[in-house]
Amino acid sequence: MIEFHDVHKTYRVAGRDIPALQPTSLSIDGGQVFGLIGHSGAGKSTLLRLINRLEEPSGGRIVIDGEDITALDSDGLRRFRQRVGMIFQHFNLLASKTVADNIAMPLRLAGGSSASEIDARVAELLQRVGLTEQARKYPAQLSGGQKQRVGIARALACRPTILLCDEATSALDPQTTASVLQLLAEINQELKLTIVLITHEMDVIRRVCDRVAVMDDGRIVEQGSVADVFLHPQHPTTKRFVLEDEHVDEDEQRDDFAHVPGRILRLTFRGEATYSPLLGTVARQTGVDYSILAGRIDRIKDQPYGQLTLALVGGDLEAAMSQLNAADVHVEVLRG
Ligand SMILES: Nc1ncnc2c1ncn2[C@@H]1O[C@H](COP(=O)(O)OP(=O)(O)O)[C@@H](O)[C@H]1O
Ligand SMILES: [Mg+2]
Repeated sequence: MIEFHDVHKTYRVAGRDIPALQPTSLSIDGGQVFGLIGHSGAGKSTLLRLINRLEEPSGGRIVIDGEDITALDSDGLRRFRQRVGMIFQHFNLLASKTVADNIAMPLRLAGGSSASEIDARVAELLQRVGLTEQARKYPAQLSGGQKQRVGIARALACRPTILLCDEATSALDPQTTASVLQLLAEINQELKLTIVLITHEMDVIRRVCDRVAVMDDGRIVEQGSVADVFLHPQHPTTKRFVLEDEHVDEDEQRDDFAHVPGRILRLTFRGEATYSPLLGTVARQTGVDYSILAGRIDRIKDQPYGQLTLALVGGDLEAAMSQLNAADVHVEVLRG
């Protein structure tokens, strides 16, 4: 659906070149929720804005739905942009227009619809985002979550096939974030829309994304399914995001574990294995004792997972290791 072939972007400011995106190749399947995570300045917004050519690439080819959009003329670009909706961190609503008029705006700009067709479409969109009661209000009379719902309805007005979200929940509190992400997930499911979202929060990725790319310094440094990338991070930047998300200070943890005897393992359970009574069984059969040093049971989208850090002492350690390895669990030795 979305392909980048050696796409790069350099801004030129006051005679200086700022390389915002290094040559990047990327492929995003249709119907996916694709997350881009990175710290501020990593190049996320640049990459996202290249998808609808809000930024012109300095080089490379961008192919969307089989069409090379880097080659479009202004007419072609205008038509193409109707297929790509976008929502923003600060909503970008027009303060002087009502909710209904904000949502109607792209339809009016696109032309080709009668007033009654526009009214009907706006009513449908208001209902979809749960704002029917707010149609006549102005943006200043809405909460942050409601404003973003207006942004989403406006982005969907022209029935796009791609929705771009630039830090869409970063200005919202955690509960509102959850409800907006839920809405995005529903839209992805019901409309089969491809969503590309950027965020600096792991939690956002974990809740809605199917795949994720981690960006650092103008590069994608790691990408894959959300479970693979976050349960087994490879790149230091990804590892840092995972530790931040778990509120773990690596140095403190190393100090704490230094006083714990035994072999330290990290076990990762996915799906059904998350709820299996494996530890008790292994401990009983091998005489190994375990203490739990850290742990988390959570979900990645709708898949449960568990990650436990254990210290094993006594008994038949090797037998315990081979039983764990044979089970449907990923075993990583943190300290031998
Ligand atoms: N319009 C612009 N003009 C000049 N430099 C820019 C512009 N937009 C972004 N940059 C620079 O490009 C780099 C990447 O920025 P950006 O894509 O906004 O990162 P992110 O969204 O990950 O915070 C940064 O160094 C930023 O300062
Ligand atoms: Mg940004």
